[in-house]
Amino acid sequence: MRTCRIAPSILSADFARLGEEVRDVVDAGADWIHFDVMDNHYVPNLTVGPLVLQAIRPHTSVPIDVHLMVDPVDEIIPAFLKAGADIITFHCEASRHIDRTLQLIRQGGAKAGLVFNPATPLSYLDYELDRIDVVLLMSVNPGFGGQSFIESTLEKTVAVREKLDRYKAETGREVMLEIDGGVKPENIARIAAAGADTFVAGSAVFGAGGKSGYADVISRMKAAVAALD
Ligand code: DX5
Ligand code: ZN
Repeated sequence: MRTCRIAPSILSADFARLGEEVRDVVDAGADWIHFDVMDNHYVPNLTVGPLVLQAIRPHTSVPIDVHLMVDPVDEIIPAFLKAGADIITFHCEASRHIDRTLQLIRQGGAKAGLVFNPATPLSYLDYELDRIDVVLLMSVNPGFGGQSFIESTLEKTVAVREKLDRYKAETGREVMLEIDGGVKPENIARIAAAGADTFVAGSAVFGAGGKSGYADVISRMKAAVAALD
């Protein structure tokens, strides 16, 4: 059976009830919580930091996937590690020394991921796969929830899948492939068929109007991927 991890982005949750939203979406079948950090510098929006991560951490035991859309990135990583991040991803363009940033995350005990914007070339991957646990492909330009999926991401997903399969055949090590932006029950099967195993969904999940709506959307997403087997 194909791997299908659903990671709802709390960017579209009700921030006044964040702990409850996290519990509800995990009860509804979420595999990870995706935590979008924006700094009004690397991206034109401002969201949440380590204090909010620390506040939601006791509300769930599923992995919390911290997506840093910040520049500079290294200085803020220790605070997210301390606050309980399981996975920390950052953008190629936001680190002066990608290798050093990856090491900083892994030495802190979290899994490390590299994020590619729609126009970022995949060549950044070539010498770093040994230090990467997850490749995150942006399927929208980072900064806002609720945007439409950029179709060229599918071709890029296929290219990364090939690299990761080749790497696994050589080393035995599995690297996850996550897609972020505009993922919905209607397009998830095409994205999974291209080779993704982890799917961020913000507006599609949290726009579904409460716990039973969340469960409905998540189960439709998982069923669409399972139907590919
Ligand atoms: C965009 C964020 C995404 C976003 C996804 O910069 O990184 O995680 O919240 O939201 P949807 O699923 O609504 O596109
Ligand atoms: Zn994100």
